[in-house]
Amino acid sequence: MRTLIVGIGALGGTIATRAVSAGMPVWLATRTGESARALRASGLRVSGVGGTAAAASVQAAVVADYRDQHFDLILLATKAHEALEIAPFLSTLLTPGGTLLCIQNGGVSQILSDRLGTLVLGGVSNLGATMIEPGVYEQRNAGHLLIGEIAGGLSERTTRVAETLRRAIETRVTPNLRGAVWAKLLLNCSVTTIGAVAARTMRQYMTSSTGREVFRKIYDETLSVALASGTRPERMIVEPIPPRDDYDGWILQIIDSYGDVKPSMLQDFERGRRTEIDFINGYVAQLGRRLGVPVPMNAAMTELVHRIEHGEVRPDPARLDDLLAGPLPIST
Ligand SMILES: NC(=O)c1ccc[n+]([C@@H]2O[C@H](COP(=O)([O-])OP(=O)(O)OC[C@H]3O[C@@H](n4cnc5c(N)ncnc54)[C@H](OP(=O)(O)O)[C@@H]3O)[C@@H](O)[C@H]2O)c1
Repeated sequence: MRTLIVGIGALGGTIATRAVSAGMPVWLATRTGESARALRASGLRVSGVGGTAAAASVQAAVVADYRDQHFDLILLATKAHEALEIAPFLSTLLTPGGTLLCIQNGGVSQILSDRLGTLVLGGVSNLGATMIEPGVYEQRNAGHLLIGEIAGGLSERTTRVAETLRRAIETRVTPNLRGAVWAKLLLNCSVTTIGAVAARTMRQYMTSSTGREVFRKIYDETLSVALASGTRPERMIVEPIPPRDDYDGWILQIIDSYGDVKPSMLQDFERGRRTEIDFINGYVAQLGRRLGVPVPMNAAMTELVHRIEHGEVRPDPARLDDLLAGPLPIST
């Protein structure tokens, strides 16, 4: 399966290295010509969980340079905003019946499937990776890629794509892709975003009553939107619907898995990078409004993250008090 990987950052670079070193017919697309030249000169290396792998020689070019070529599979591994911008062009590079596989967090695969149709296949990455420098990546866990049809059910092409990608990384198929996307979204909207605006890990912010209240409100609101959309969220670490008789035990299970992880969005704040908030809490707020589900917490959280991105306020535990007090005014 002739495969193009677009976005050779943490996740795309990790998958690309393992794919090229496994001898798969893979081409790499970067945003700039300079990045493509650097990758062709350096090759790729990955270390960490899953073992080391290297690819001395890679075929890399800026994405527009592929305009006259065609691929059976395009793995889209840019951040969310960039994925939305580049996907229409990528759809023109597919062979008839070809597949555009999106592995961004949040609402990206659903949005792209609404815009581009059935050529889009959805993916959820439980694989954690970082980029040490361009061409050098580290796999952080033994996670896998979960792929499936956005409309649900199993298909022959999902099986074929999974078989192809399995040569590089563990890939599983789900008949309930939307449920898998929402399982991760529920935790991203609560665990990750709350930790980012508070500049604390989940274990730290859950020691305060304010942290616990913000968590409960955002989680419950997000779950209401998921259920109103007709999705049945999958189990991920915990059952998606908290048990009434053991809420504290359910919380402890999440803390056991994610309680000490520094939120990736906090790293985005620290590096001055644009976050994916519009596709996480922002996506939930937008969908909730459309479905008539009240979404004040997700809307306030989205606005707060934008204010942090613009440098108007800083991540701090006081942000959680601000969220409970209402969206404005926020003290600096
Ligand atoms: N990393 C993880 O562990 C992980 C886990 C689960 C899900 N995800 C999701 O996977 C997605 C990618 O995450 P990441 O951590 O790999 O991000 P990343 O390290 O920022 O990599 C994104 C890459 O895309 C490139 N890019 C941007 N626009 C492009 C374009 N038009 N054409 C070609 N390449 C382009 C960027 O290049 P420049 O640097 O030159 O802009 C960068 O190399 C995100 O949606 C994230 O939420 C990541």
